[in-house]
Amino acid sequence: MALSLKFLVVTTAILALASSPSTASDPSPLQDFCVAVNDSKATVFVNGKVCKDPKLVTADDFFRSGLNKPGNTSNQLGSVVTAVNVNNLPGLNTLGISVARIDFARRGLNPPHTHPRGTEVLVVLKGRLYVGFVLSNPGPNMKNKLLTKILNPGDVFVFPQGLVHFQLNVGKTNAIAFAGLSSQNPGVITIANAVFGSDPPINDDVLAKAFQIDKKVIDHLQEQFWWDNN
Ligand SMILES: *[C@@H]1O[C@H](CO)[C@@H](O)[C@H](O)[C@H]1NC(C)=O
Ligand SMILES: *[C@@H]1O[C@H](CO)[C@@H](O)[C@H](O)[C@H]1NC(C)=O
Repeated sequence: MALSLKFLVVTTAILALASSPSTASDPSPLQDFCVAVNDSKATVFVNGKVCKDPKLVTADDFFRSGLNKPGNTSNQLGSVVTAVNVNNLPGLNTLGISVARIDFARRGLNPPHTHPRGTEVLVVLKGRLYVGFVLSNPGPNMKNKLLTKILNPGDVFVFPQGLVHFQLNVGKTNAIAFAGLSSQNPGVITIANAVFGSDPPINDDVLAKAFQIDKKVIDHLQEQFWWDNN
């Protein structure tokens, strides 16, 4: 490879790496829109979905109703997330954004979880929430630092992409919040469900050592039903 070409390849790679943190959302759409076609036979599983013919697109492709309706919080967590993303609003395809309504019963908890592909900005409409997120491992002095806040109606809080976060209703009533997410399909990994409720279960030797507790405790945790509030 000629020296100049090598230099070009290396600088391009460095630039790509350097610029990636500033594009902490889905890639640019490159066109006005690409309304997803719901093709169950599609064999392309990379970067979203196939576009509908733009000539056939209507306003309804960009529309979904129902977020005025409270979700059913009668479950062991006392919370439920109603998500509107590319899977139920095809017009979101390639646009790097989605929304969710989160309902909390009294003492309801949206348990520690992460969104692997999106930052979340939460707006409280009703109630009082204790929220927080935990920084990643690397230090110095920031190692797994916990940042928390009590939120009231009208308050806005940001959960950075990929970080473990939670919301607990600490008010005297039910609570309602809306969240915007910087991905058409932000994903959810609920920590307890992924670790103790995986299918099949993670070998208890792994979890006993990782959590530094007896295997019997791990087995007990793995026998629980890990409710998914999403
Ligand atoms: C809410 O969910 C519970 C438990 O699944 C169910 O028994 C109840 O009928 C649901 N309530 C409504 C209003 O759908
Ligand atoms: C897409 O198709 C699947 C399977 O036919 C169906 O379950 C799903 O509800 C459809 N989604 C939309 C947004 O129409």
